[in-house]
Amino acid sequence: MKQDMIVILDLGSTENTVVARQIRELGVYSEIHPHDITTEQLNGLKNVKGIILNGGENRIVDGQAVDVDQAVYAYGCPVISIDHPTAKCEQQYAQIPGQEELRQFVFDICHAEPNWNMKNFIEDQVERIREQVGDKKVLLALSGGVDSSVVAAMLIKAIGKQLVCVHVNHGLMRKNESESVVEVFKNQLHANLIYVDAVERFLSKLENVADPEQKRKIIGGEFIRVFEEEARKLEGIDFLGQGTIYPDIIESGTKTAKMVKSHHNVGGLPEDLQFELVEPLKQLFKDEVRACGIELGLPESMVYRQPFPGPGLGVRCLGAITRDRLEAVRESDAILREEFEKAGLDKKVWQYFTVVPDFKSVGVKNNARCFDYMVIIRAINTIDAMSATIERVDWDVLQRITDRILKEVGNVCRVCYDMSPKPPATIEFE
Ligand code: XMP
Repeated sequence: MKQDMIVILDLGSTENTVVARQIRELGVYSEIHPHDITTEQLNGLKNVKGIILNGGENRIVDGQAVDVDQAVYAYGCPVISIDHPTAKCEQQYAQIPGQEELRQFVFDICHAEPNWNMKNFIEDQVERIREQVGDKKVLLALSGGVDSSVVAAMLIKAIGKQLVCVHVNHGLMRKNESESVVEVFKNQLHANLIYVDAVERFLSKLENVADPEQKRKIIGGEFIRVFEEEARKLEGIDFLGQGTIYPDIIESGTKTAKMVKSHHNVGGLPEDLQFELVEPLKQLFKDEVRACGIELGLPESMVYRQPFPGPGLGVRCLGAITRDRLEAVRESDAILREEFEKAGLDKKVWQYFTVVPDFKSVGVKNNARCFDYMVIIRAINTIDAMSATIERVDWDVLQRITDRILKEVGNVCRVCYDMSPKPPATIEFE
């Protein structure tokens, strides 16, 4: 292993990630693990130079008082506790230690080397993945999103053709998105990639369905069915790759299950498809995932891709999806992205997209009355997507985008800019 590691054991603190990031800022890799980790599991982590028992105020997990296995105290590397004093530890802090106290612990007491960087992280993960997977096969749903793309690149580096990627094109992807997944993963990285063209299947299931929740359910449910059908065709798959990142673990509670059943992964696989998980990014934060993707050679456009909802353009083609309006959303979204990039807004604005409502308005084209669709532009900034403010886009940029949409996108005669913050409006329209 290339990197030394400080292990943080979660004894109910809400500050685990703060401490982990503080240690990483010192140049030392740190991982957060559940309080009931066994010494065998600790041995499996290798290069553990120190352990921090992070109990916060009261060492309570799910309403129960918790402690670590007694063997952890005698593990053989320095152990500190950062909660109310416990006599068993060599040293303790009454609150979150400052950077200087952490520096002393990490370097003077644990003698860890500051060798945490993406190159070493990748090498260590590659070694771990090879150890876990052996000569078996791993299946991965590759959506083209940041996390699944980075995990795919990492697994290709580690096990090459033992990784089977499945990309389902549900017809609700942005312009050229499925093509770029194929180009990058199949043509450049030579992945074992199964491309499933499920466009007709999804669009026919969605025909005449106007209710947003119903649309989301159909898209999510159909995705699982397509993925499951592909999984059943394959033989000898023992592992499922997942682009789980640390914030996902926090959101779904603390402990992570090893065997997946339905409901928590890939939107819920059936009970009888059981895989062991391979999750090489699960200790990373979003910015670190992006840095990892760049180090693995993925294009910036893929790594810095803005958030995109699972149901894709389906929730931006409002009401019952029709092919002409879906095309209008896709084309106007592509124009918006191009123009934002040219204006340098692509890195500044958190999320931006277009929406096409399911009604027409009157216009005039070529000296004749027309009755065409409307494109709404939305551009917002947010920290956590819980609330959002609108971007005050320069008038000239908006004018250029409007001109291009009216000229290049068929069936559109009107362009509007959405001025609504969240709340009361949500970021997406459906
Ligand atoms: P709202 O519309 O709730 O969106 O303000 C908040 C953020 O979540 C994204 N979003 C989704 N992401 N699956 C996702 O992975 C979804 O079904 C979904 N719906 C909304 C939305 O784009 C915004 O960034």
